[in-house]
Amino acid sequence: MKSNCLAMEQCKSIALIDSGVGGLTVVKEIFNQLPNEKIVYFGDTAHMPYGPRPYEQVRGFVYEILDFLKTQEIKLVIIACNTATSAGLHYYQEKTELPLLGVIEPGVRAALGQTRNNKIGVIGTTGTIKSGAYQDVFNRFAPEVRLYSQPCPLFVLIVENGLVNSPEAVRVAEEYLQPLKKAGIDTLILGCTHYPLMAEVIEKVMGPGVKLISSAEETAREAKRVLAEKGLLSGNGKAMSGHRFFVSGPAKPFADLAQNLIEGTIKVYQVILPW
Ligand code: DGL
Repeated sequence: MKSNCLAMEQCKSIALIDSGVGGLTVVKEIFNQLPNEKIVYFGDTAHMPYGPRPYEQVRGFVYEILDFLKTQEIKLVIIACNTATSAGLHYYQEKTELPLLGVIEPGVRAALGQTRNNKIGVIGTTGTIKSGAYQDVFNRFAPEVRLYSQPCPLFVLIVENGLVNSPEAVRVAEEYLQPLKKAGIDTLILGCTHYPLMAEVIEKVMGPGVKLISSAEETAREAKRVLAEKGLLSGNGKAMSGHRFFVSGPAKPFADLAQNLIEGTIKVYQVILPW
């Protein structure tokens, strides 16, 4: 039988790590842009939200997940979480020889491709905004940009609890986004992978003049580029099966939420982490 995936390394999966369902926004883009690839997803739901936690603790969780991923056949790791990315991508790279991507630089690149007035907003968890990670990347890539940052800690809980379409979601969004509306930004980075799941509400509050940026698309593009460069892209033929979803909390609530975001039935397994 002819295989679509001849070399062993190319057959391995892309791993994505997030605290919950947020990283699925990146998974969706991987499915769009890299339909031949298999993914292994880890949602650390037992420790969600990451946003209010100290950076060392978030890094500790990611280390545990990277250890777990050694039991899987992985060729690339995507930290599909802004909070974990801002807690220090280079720390994770010290723990693994696999190529590793975060979501912050891709988001910044996408925003720079959109802004006309160089006034860009970024919303994220408290951890992400406090880290100054976005400002650091703008300082390197485009110091002329004026960045307006706003933490929106409740958004993650709204998404994880399935409340995106509730009146509370609109109320909370109006309050959080007010300062960014006043600032006259023309581009808004959704600096948390959960936030694209609230895009409709955010768009409504910000109005048609503000372009929303999700780093998912650009991250998937970067994943494709890295895999191609290393000769690790899988062969032709859609990866019909073989995707694996793991969570550190109960499987059912995650599966129910994920089912609405990802087409097809997915199997979710619970893994108990040492922490
Ligand atoms: N989706 C994550 C992020 O991009 C984590 C949110 C959280 O757990 O607080 O920051």
